[in-house]
Amino acid sequence: MKVALIYMSRHGTTEKIIKHIAEQLTGEVQIFNLADETFPDIRNFGSIIIGGSIHYGSIQREIRQFCKRNMHELLERRVGLFVCCLLSTRDSDQFERAFPLVLKAHSKASAVFEGDLIYNKLNAIERLIFNPSKEEQDVIAINESAIKAFVSAFLNENAVASTPYIPLKS
Ligand SMILES: Cc1cc2nc3c(=O)[nH]c(=O)nc-3n(C[C@H](O)[C@H](O)[C@H](O)COP(=O)(O)O)c2cc1C
Repeated sequence: MKVALIYMSRHGTTEKIIKHIAEQLTGEVQIFNLADETFPDIRNFGSIIIGGSIHYGSIQREIRQFCKRNMHELLERRVGLFVCCLLSTRDSDQFERAFPLVLKAHSKASAVFEGDLIYNKLNAIERLIFNPSKEEQDVIAINESAIKAFVSAFLNENAVASTPYIPLKS
């Protein structure tokens, strides 16, 4: 199976998640950071995972554009979708708004992974807004089992859309 992992990450959490996902996939896996590249041609891939992070309520614009411009190809392929954000409870509609309805309905797996605020990477204004406690914020905790569950749903031939809300931290 040839898999494209397509992501954007502001401070590195989504990138870490993508790397963990890549480790659990067999076959040819290619990672594309939309911040570095033009949109990859996904016609060479049978499966696509798309992940971004939420800032001020929205996923990255490039992720939204990528989904929109490639919708036809995406709907003909196996798709997994996730977001990384702080508000990962069922009440949050950030995942719902991040991806088009038709793509969510088509996806084999979806997840909301709980992100983190990395104090050292926040600029002065962000520190004022979020006022994070320095000690608590500098570690990115990755929940391996949540990622495993996402990958396993993605690979499951019989899967219908999975429940998206999986906390990243255990
Ligand atoms: C400026 C800023 C705005 C953010 N806005 C939101 C938000 O609206 N909702 C949310 O759930 N998390 C929000 N977060 C938390 C990020 O989603 C979280 O830090 C995530 O781990 C970022 O992942 P990344 O490093 O891959 O970009 C925000 C973080 C920052 C720094």
